[in-house]
Amino acid sequence: PVIKTYDHILVDLPKPGVGLITFNRPRALNALSTALFLELNDALQTLDNDDDTNAIVLTGSEKAFAAGADIKEMKDLSFSKAYNTNFITSWSSTIPNIRKPIIAAVNGHALGGGCELALMADILYCSSSATFGQPEIKLGIIPGAGGSQRLTALIGKSRAMELILTGKTFSGTEAGQWGVAAQVFDSAEECVRGALETAGKIAGMSRLSVRAAKEVVNKSQDTGLREGLDYERKVFHGLFGSKDQKIGEPMSLEIISNALHLL
Ligand code: CAA
Repeated sequence: PVIKTYDHILVDLPKPGVGLITFNRPRALNALSTALFLELNDALQTLDNDDDTNAIVLTGSEKAFAAGADIKEMKDLSFSKAYNTNFITSWSSTIPNIRKPIIAAVNGHALGGGCELALMADILYCSSSATFGQPEIKLGIIPGAGGSQRLTALIGKSRAMELILTGKTFSGTEAGQWGVAAQVFDSAEECVRGALETAGKIAGMSRLSVRAAKEVVNKSQDTGLREGLDYERKVFHGLFGSKDQKIGEPMSLEIISNALHLL
């Protein structure tokens, strides 16, 4: 793809099939301003549309994945302005529509919106020293980008209540123990490397199956079991019509692109 240059994020293609987006607002601990989010959406959309990219890694710095929504933007926000502008609508306008897997590699602070953004990823990796939390209560607000819903679904009501009502943080080690993170690494570097490795592995699978798998797993998050199972079976059946299924796995990127070309 044409890799654009942005002001608040860096976009890179570190290995075949893998796009890497790095938040780059070091002086604000990668606070997720609207400007940053619009760039993130644009980069995600570009990578999603790119035929050579099959998986996306999202990361910040060793010090901060992201320290939340930009507090400076919220300081003077009134109810009517928040409501009229549908404040932080950019957070949900694009990410739910990205069809390629997104892996978050979380190091340092992942607070407020930073934690919520990490929870929006398809797979979450972190380092043991990462710090997650929903400190909004200390600002007189509540999580506004899914924290109360996604975190509660992941860790259960009692733990979620304690975190959201007190603003207390939890560590990367706890994120692993509680099932928030799929893997916990000893260092930031290993965490990013691990995420890139997994992204590379996924990028070597059938793109069609990866897309279908992401779709059906996500379906489980917002439907009842019966509807979800019906949906899964329909997509499962559909994949028997694909060339990828006839070829089998594991496949090289070359075979996949040839197969997709034939579809
Ligand atoms: N927005 C804007 N700027 C932020 C920020 C944020 N969320 N978090 C940190 N910064 C800025 C600080 O203002 C500071 O900038 P200046 O040097 O210009 O003052 C710089 O980043 C470094 O921050 P600190 O000096 O505070 O760094 P620290 O290492 O002492 O502390 C921290 C780190 C514990 C993460 C602390 O910065 C902090 O508590 N940040 C706020 C976290 C927070 O409350 N996030 C929730 C936001 S609300 C939200 O996200 C709503 C939602 O659900 C969508």
